[in-house]
Amino acid sequence: MSLQSEIEKRRTFGIISHPDAGKTTLTEKLLMFGGAIQMAGAVKARKATRHATSDWMKIEQERGISVASSVMKFNYKIDKKDFEINLLDTPGHQDFSEDTYRVLTAVDSAMMVIDSGKGVEPQTEKLMEVCRMRNTPIVTFINKLDREGLEPLDILADIEEKLQIECAPMTWPIGMGKSFKGVYNLYKKELNLFKAGSETADIKVVHIEDLNDPKLDELLGPQADELRDNIELLEGAADPFDLEHFLAGSQSPVFFGSAVNNFGVKELLDAFCEFAPHPGPRKAVERAVNPDEKDFSGFCFKIQANMDPAHRDRIAFFRICSGKFEKGMSVRHHRINKDVKIANAVIFMSQDRAHVEEAYAGDIIGIHNHGTIKIGDTFTTKEQLKFTGIPNFAPELFRRVRLKDPMKRKQLHKGLIQLSEEGAVQVFKTNLGGDYILGAVGVLQFDVTVARLNAEYKVDADYVGTDFQIARWITCDDEKKLAEFTRLFDSALAEDADGFLAYLAPSAWKLNYTEEQWPEITFHKTREHI
Ligand code: G4P
Repeated sequence: MSLQSEIEKRRTFGIISHPDAGKTTLTEKLLMFGGAIQMAGAVKARKATRHATSDWMKIEQERGISVASSVMKFNYKIDKKDFEINLLDTPGHQDFSEDTYRVLTAVDSAMMVIDSGKGVEPQTEKLMEVCRMRNTPIVTFINKLDREGLEPLDILADIEEKLQIECAPMTWPIGMGKSFKGVYNLYKKELNLFKAGSETADIKVVHIEDLNDPKLDELLGPQADELRDNIELLEGAADPFDLEHFLAGSQSPVFFGSAVNNFGVKELLDAFCEFAPHPGPRKAVERAVNPDEKDFSGFCFKIQANMDPAHRDRIAFFRICSGKFEKGMSVRHHRINKDVKIANAVIFMSQDRAHVEEAYAGDIIGIHNHGTIKIGDTFTTKEQLKFTGIPNFAPELFRRVRLKDPMKRKQLHKGLIQLSEEGAVQVFKTNLGGDYILGAVGVLQFDVTVARLNAEYKVDADYVGTDFQIARWITCDDEKKLAEFTRLFDSALAEDADGFLAYLAPSAWKLNYTEEQWPEITFHKTREHI
């Protein structure tokens, strides 16, 4: 099979949602359609116990165990057309949302799940910001129509307003909660009748070309007129689906359903396979790289530590950007200028890992290593390339590390650098005093860091609070100005693990004030991995 046809079959995506909207349930149903799992409950069984915030170790373990479910690869057929789907898991716990942000740099599209009772929630807004950085095309699934929820039109207005994306309804619900009858597919002109509790896709589908067809009244009773009115309203108010706008990330096709009842999921998956993009070109510092180029290239977007203390190895997840990966091939690890032979790469088939024999652009492979690979690293067959668009996000929480045994400073340094390369936490070393300040997006990251320092590096440390609340990486073209700033703000400056200078501010007010006073300095919320 040609490289091009392998690429065209592939759909690599992630699901974004606020916890509890139904991501796990939807994932499970999608995997069932792909035949990747037979039994409902298999994904759920491994879901992180995210409500037990005190029980972070369990969550961490869950992350370790869930390596296999980090990427779920399955095959799906529509008529005779074959699709190879890579579904990338995004950690549910918001304290690990940095991982989620990075996973989104490796996808070509995303599915957004919205709880019809809640509308747009904060975590979804945050994740959407990340999707917008690369204009990732997004398909929306409005879930839990079997329950009373917000009015569908209000949900669309909420999405349009909060997420700044145009909505194009593809299906429209008939009733909700107890009166939920199903959805009408606006494009196929089909009525899908809801049946609660179906594990399979045995949904009754009736073709209704003309909404005035009396069959509609027979099937829906008084709700038939309600549907007619709604569709008429939509024709004036809603945007029709436009493939180009979707691919540009400015419009999202919207589906309604109920994941737990497996209703509306198959339609979502079918439309997704049809419209969502196959792997496209990726930007590198040097040039854009096309997926159908003969030579292999890929980048690391996630590192997962092995929770078994007997094994210090980590799995680095690589997104393939071009060419074909073959077992045993030699690739260049550009950051350290070394050729490495990759004999033990793994690919993830929902519940199992298998050794990779070959893989193509869009696929995700896992490579075992002992800390030599870091997030953002590029591997290619030979050409010097550095993929861009894998950012570090400015942390929102800070702690100063207190080392209990001063003799262990070297181990502390090593541990912190490795943990930061893995993306577990961000490390800053203050200009004054050389203290380590840790930055995180979620508080659990701090707990995990001290525990792992202890378990893996034999370093006993804890934290004391800091006054810092905000970090911004700073750059300036004018060396003199930068030197002046550095002299004046020395006590608020720190270097991150890659040697980039950051300004740590005690409040948003102070940051704003400093930004106004120093227009020559640029304050960055994100920074590219080097
Ligand atoms: P998440 O991964 O996004 O956090 O959500 P998850 O799938 O775990 O779903 C959160 C809760 O919402 C679960 O209930 C799940 O059963 C329920 N749910 C998912 N889809 C639907 C739906 O279409 N309709 C209704 N009514 N509920 C839905 P739970 O009580 O937390 O767990 P469980 O004990 O029911 O499994």
